[in-house]
Amino acid sequence: MAAITGSGRGKWGSSLGFVLAAAGGAIGLGNIWGFPYTAAQSGGAAFVALYLICVLLIGLPVMFAELSIGRASESSPVTAFRKLAPRSLWWLVGAQGVLSGFAILAFYSVVAGWAVGYLVKAIMGEFTQGLSLDAAEGTFRQLIESPGLVTLWTAVFFVAGILIVQGGVHRGIERTCKILMPLFFVLLIGLACRAMTLSGAGKGVSFLFNVDFSKIWEHPKVILNALSQAFFSMSLGMGAMLTYGSYLSKKENLPWAGVSIGLADTAIAVLAGLMIFPAFFAMGGTTETLAASQEEALVFVVLPTIFDQLPAGQLFSIAFYVLLVIAALTSSISLLEVITAFFVDELGWKRKRAVWLFGGASFLLAVPCALNLKITPNLSFMSLLILIFFKYALLIGGFFICLFVGWAWKPRAAIAEMTREGQKFPGLPVWGFLIRYICPLVIAIIIINQLWTAFSGS
Ligand code: TRP
Repeated sequence: MAAITGSGRGKWGSSLGFVLAAAGGAIGLGNIWGFPYTAAQSGGAAFVALYLICVLLIGLPVMFAELSIGRASESSPVTAFRKLAPRSLWWLVGAQGVLSGFAILAFYSVVAGWAVGYLVKAIMGEFTQGLSLDAAEGTFRQLIESPGLVTLWTAVFFVAGILIVQGGVHRGIERTCKILMPLFFVLLIGLACRAMTLSGAGKGVSFLFNVDFSKIWEHPKVILNALSQAFFSMSLGMGAMLTYGSYLSKKENLPWAGVSIGLADTAIAVLAGLMIFPAFFAMGGTTETLAASQEEALVFVVLPTIFDQLPAGQLFSIAFYVLLVIAALTSSISLLEVITAFFVDELGWKRKRAVWLFGGASFLLAVPCALNLKITPNLSFMSLLILIFFKYALLIGGFFICLFVGWAWKPRAAIAEMTREGQKFPGLPVWGFLIRYICPLVIAIIIINQLWTAFSGS
């Protein structure tokens, strides 16, 4: 098996395989559901513009940082920081990442479980019977309030992920993504073309692209939303890209790989918007309905009412939920890989044992989410996990990754890693400046601002 190194760690089989696997890890529910939803809540085009700025100014630099830490250390997060900065506390950044991986995988898989449930509904033709918005809302409530069913779909989703990760980096993850990602692209492009050729679709396009910057200053929260969304969508701040980078060959041009992953992720988020909004507006939706709808509503309530009005609606509904499940699956395996790699690298466990045990542990954390357990009448256990790990942990992790590369390991060392076999990439000194000063500063301001608004109650 040529793809396995002497140390027994996996290696990607090819550059394309790596980029597809990493893009598969990045492209997920965050793109298809999170991005359009956050855009809808944050005034559309102004958010999209800010999002792009966050990707370029902060997301990509952090992506380079994570990939180079991974490749330089050839280790999963905790071991990586230990190797590059022995006798220091930096390994805690990796540990926080592994912990975040557990928690994110748990709530992520429950949403994926809903998607599996919806796929089954689509196959059974439930979205072809003239659903009103209220009825669609009812269908969704009914699903999330059926604990047994949601737990079952979540478990099915977990087992699928575990079986893939058990197969290893090359034969499990890479091979799966090489099959699923092209299928995903074809489905998404097909669905977006259908949506944009509906009459009245133009409104949806302009909702996404007609920037009105005054909106941003009316709602400064949009800036916070854009950055957390960028981190989540690009899978940054918890060592997922670091782990994927650790299986990357030294010959690869790492910054270009990073740019391809980041751009693919962003393009897919925008394309998902171009699938959802034109369909939504063409079917008579309004900006008010959008702004008033709940987080889950977009893909699980609003879209089901649209499928019904399309010719061959059932086919489109099936295609859409297949798309959602694929996106979620290729992402969840990247989360599971971080946890697995930690136990394999750090404790010398067998991959199979680590993945079943810790995938299982994360599933146990998913159960209270699937059961819709409430901590207070207004706060579910799942919302709490989302709040801590989506809104804060990734940004905090990202902040420390910047500090680590900027001040402890040093940009010079990272650049040496990126160019070690003579690879070239323009502007690496600018990257060094961004990662040392600008990125940590901006992230810190945003975290503090976020905490401030949370505690001052505004
Ligand atoms: N990026 C994925 C999405 O957009 C989710 C995801 C996978 C993730 N791995 C991650 C998010 C690691 C943060 C960190 O749906």
